[in-house]
Amino acid sequence: MNPLLELQNISFSYHEGKPVLKDINLSIRYGEKLAIVGENGSGKTTLFNLIVRILEPDEGKIIFMGKTINSKKGIAFLREKVGFLFQDPEDQLFCPTLLEDVAFGPLNLGFSTSQAREKAMDTLELVGLKDLAGLPPYMLSEGQKRMGALAAVLAMDPDLLLLDEPTSGLDERAQARLEQILLETGKAVLVASHDKPFLAKCTSKSYILSNGHLLLC
Ligand SMILES: Nc1ncnc2c1ncn2[C@@H]1O[C@H](COP(=O)(O)OP(=O)(O)OP(=O)(O)O)[C@@H](O)[C@H]1O
Ligand SMILES: [Mg+2]
Repeated sequence: MNPLLELQNISFSYHEGKPVLKDINLSIRYGEKLAIVGENGSGKTTLFNLIVRILEPDEGKIIFMGKTINSKKGIAFLREKVGFLFQDPEDQLFCPTLLEDVAFGPLNLGFSTSQAREKAMDTLELVGLKDLAGLPPYMLSEGQKRMGALAAVLAMDPDLLLLDEPTSGLDERAQARLEQILLETGKAVLVASHDKPFLAKCTSKSYILSNGHLLLC
């Protein structure tokens, strides 16, 4: 079976500056749970932005579900199936209420208004935020925003979850919920984090980004 995602020889620099990523190769199988560690500024978030094509690689190829992603249509296909939890949840929540934010993805996928609302409420219950569904996101705490953004990602039922520092700012209960969700899901997960105990529980293999290179730990 093809891997779910393959990065082949990806290199990237911001504005022709110093290379941030050099000749990165990575393969993720369906259901596989991988960690990426590395110092602040090592390029973890940059790598995630390249995978979902918020950034364009200078060199290399991204192959998702056997398709080389090289067109707008390909990028739209990939973004439907890859859920990206941003490092800053403020970038992810933009609707008048949390419920609308979480229903936004399912609506885009063609759910009816009532189906999308039901999916959003179920997902908010899963992350422990059902009671806050009607609040505007700016009224949420940092940890609540992160779990709300996670709900928005999960509600789209992606095949691959890209989680950028998902435990940052979470209390013990929220972190336990997150761990349970990841342990129970059959989806593939790529998670960047500095939280080693969390990574040990939820992932089976770790890579480190160092001086632009991605190496197996
Ligand atoms: N928009 C940008 N323009 C120019 N340089 C950038 C930009 N974003 C990030 N960088 C640089 O790219 C490098 C990698 O940053 P990145 O955010 O990917 O690191 P990171 O591994 O996610 O770090 P952290 O652990 O702090 O989240 C850093 O040197 C950073 O200064
Ligand atoms: Mg980062």
